[in-house]
Amino acid sequence: MYSLLRPLLFRLDPERAHVLTLLMLRVAGDLPPARWMLEWLYSAPCKPVSAFGLTFKNPVGLAAGYDKDALAVRGLAALGFGHLEIGTVTPRPQAGNPRPRLFRLIEDEALINRLGFPSRGAGFVQRRLRAAARGSLAEGLLGTGSPPRAIRRAWPLVLGVNIGKNRDTPNEEAVFDYLALLQNFAPLADYLAINVSSPNTEGLLRLQARQALEPLLSRLHQQRLIEQRALRRRVPLLVKLGPDLSEAELDEVVGAILDSGMDGIIVTNTSLGREGLRSRYRGEAGGLSGAPLRVRSEAVLQRVVRAVSGRIPIVSAGGIMSAADARRRLDMGATLIQLYTGLIYRGPALVKAIVTSL
Ligand code: FNR
Repeated sequence: MYSLLRPLLFRLDPERAHVLTLLMLRVAGDLPPARWMLEWLYSAPCKPVSAFGLTFKNPVGLAAGYDKDALAVRGLAALGFGHLEIGTVTPRPQAGNPRPRLFRLIEDEALINRLGFPSRGAGFVQRRLRAAARGSLAEGLLGTGSPPRAIRRAWPLVLGVNIGKNRDTPNEEAVFDYLALLQNFAPLADYLAINVSSPNTEGLLRLQARQALEPLLSRLHQQRLIEQRALRRRVPLLVKLGPDLSEAELDEVVGAILDSGMDGIIVTNTSLGREGLRSRYRGEAGGLSGAPLRVRSEAVLQRVVRAVSGRIPIVSAGGIMSAADARRRLDMGATLIQLYTGLIYRGPALVKAIVTSL
């Protein structure tokens, strides 16, 4: 089906194509016959994996950034993934950078984005998640509350929420943004991913430095313990890192992550690197994703696997475009993998192809 859709989508401006795809998934997710058709086409065999105290029905997840505002959770849930990572969500709504801000590098099977965390804000996303759990669009718009435990149990798959600070929050106050988001989403998410690695929010990457990261993570860990007591379940915290850190920096950061009691690491986010690109958009500012990121993401994964030495699970993202790429990441020591750009170029059948091949 995607082979018919892709040429049409690729004729559109990339961001428009994305908005349209999300809309289609949203509509399909809310209409049972359409949802059943997606499930029939794309559901993958069960290959369960345990990590952070959660059971994933398979190791393949949707990476953050695809559905930032939880608009199409039920449609996406029908595409065979073992987990979805919603977000990045910021505490307050913000528009992101001016358009154009997303570019298709077709010859390179890559994307460059400088979206800059467009987000409808935590309140909106909370309402969307509650509505998706209940399946009622009207309730989503009205935003009526319901017990958190019931919401969580309604998911057929693991749901993570990726959190980030607002653009106008200075780094010294970033901890308050992350704390608020942790409190907002602990009751709604199975895990939270702390994003300190998007290259499009000025200064964010500096939070990856050990002296900035350690106090931030320690504070979040303390708050997580409070949330866990109230919810009477684990609230796993993962940290998402970028691919542009040196080996020495990576070792430092991993040390900080382990010392502050985090449950997992996601590597990698998009890159500022531009090696070997051919497409005419290669000069655009922003984060690079897709096939050209593969080598760098694998190198980072290898380093992180070694530094972590089995203490916490690692999630691999970055340039996974085929079943062979996915297999390699798992063989290298990743427990889970995530896709974004591969879906744009290969379509949702990639999920089933990967899971079937494992
Ligand atoms: C992203 N990514 C991303 N990551 C994140 O933590 N928060 C975000 O909001 C976004 N937004 C975003 C938008 C777009 C358009 C892209 C292409 C990517 C990064 C994404 O989750 C993933 O880490 C990288 O894209 C690498 O994986 P792929 O795309 O090479 O499979």
